[in-house]
Amino acid sequence: MFPSAVTLVDVGPRDGLQNEKQPVGTAHKIELVHRLQAAGLREIEVTSFVSPKWVPQMADNAEVMAGLQRRAGVRYSVLTPNLKGLEAALPTRPDEIVVFGAASEAFSQRNINCSIAESVERFAPVVREAHAQGLKVRAAISCALGCPYQGEVSADEVEKIVVLMKGIGVDHCGIADTIGVGTPRRVQAAMERALKHFPLDEVSGHFHDTYGQALANIYACLEMGLHVFDASVAGLGGCPYAKGATGNVATEDVVFMLDGLGIETGVDLDALVDAGAFISGVLDRAPVSRAGKALLAKRGKAAA
Ligand code: HMG
Ligand code: MG
Repeated sequence: MFPSAVTLVDVGPRDGLQNEKQPVGTAHKIELVHRLQAAGLREIEVTSFVSPKWVPQMADNAEVMAGLQRRAGVRYSVLTPNLKGLEAALPTRPDEIVVFGAASEAFSQRNINCSIAESVERFAPVVREAHAQGLKVRAAISCALGCPYQGEVSADEVEKIVVLMKGIGVDHCGIADTIGVGTPRRVQAAMERALKHFPLDEVSGHFHDTYGQALANIYACLEMGLHVFDASVAGLGGCPYAKGATGNVATEDVVFMLDGLGIETGVDLDALVDAGAFISGVLDRAPVSRAGKALLAKRGKAAA
């Protein structure tokens, strides 16, 4: 049942940086994307077209997109919560857009200022217009394993929003553990609900590593044949509306595990570690990635 290849979507430039309090220069964001594509990433979530009052770090979205030297075969995605976001995003030529809803009512209100039902109503014309422009649409389902405001989130609640997203025609369904509380069997239960409505190729996992469960959760998904995962270089990130949530699982750690399992990713781990060291240097901190830190230490020893 294990897949022979996995597609990794590096969400570091968006999910990773959106929560940074210190301003990160546009040129640094662009260089991060360039380093990720040079390392072999073929899917990169670049930025989001959200309100700059809500998420100031993403205010340079159009400049970042305009500064990219695009590589053939690499797909660049952006978040668009409403038609205003989509209209701003379209001239920047994304390959894919992401609408983001939640399995928890309380999180929907905090994150996008409306109910789950209202959010889906808002997404419907975004999906229609994106499709008219030939773009693929992903849906991210936040708080699928737990919510910072509501607490427990059931598989029924996950399936409810999955069905609503399917109803408006999204192409792909990403199940997100925003606060990293999911454990393998619960993750499998949530994934089963998504797989009732979307094919295996169009369901992915997005795991924040707050409680150290993300790699175990990815392994549990691999057991089900799932083969698309979000990850964030250097383990950057968090969500501004999920206090205490740490970054996504580090891409370096996922690649290390998949390399060990003999599962193809197309990613060069050494170049990825360099990308992680680069952005961590910009942020003036050590990479959160365990594999990244270990490989940097090993290099240091070899050089000494
Ligand atoms: P709102 O205030 O309810 O919207 O925000 P509104 O329509 O009433 O507009 C209010 C103001 O925002 C107006 O400006 C609009 O023009 C402006 P004003 O007249 O006050 O000057 N506005 C926009 N500006 C730029 N781009 C837009 C846009 N829309 C309205 N697209 C909105 C609703 C969704 C926009 C707001 O709540 C928002 O931007 N929230 C930010 C949400 C966000 O980015 N969260 C983090 C990403 S999601 C995430 O991290 C989770 C994920 O990783 C998966 C996981 O881990 O769970 C994906
Ligand atoms: Mg996230």
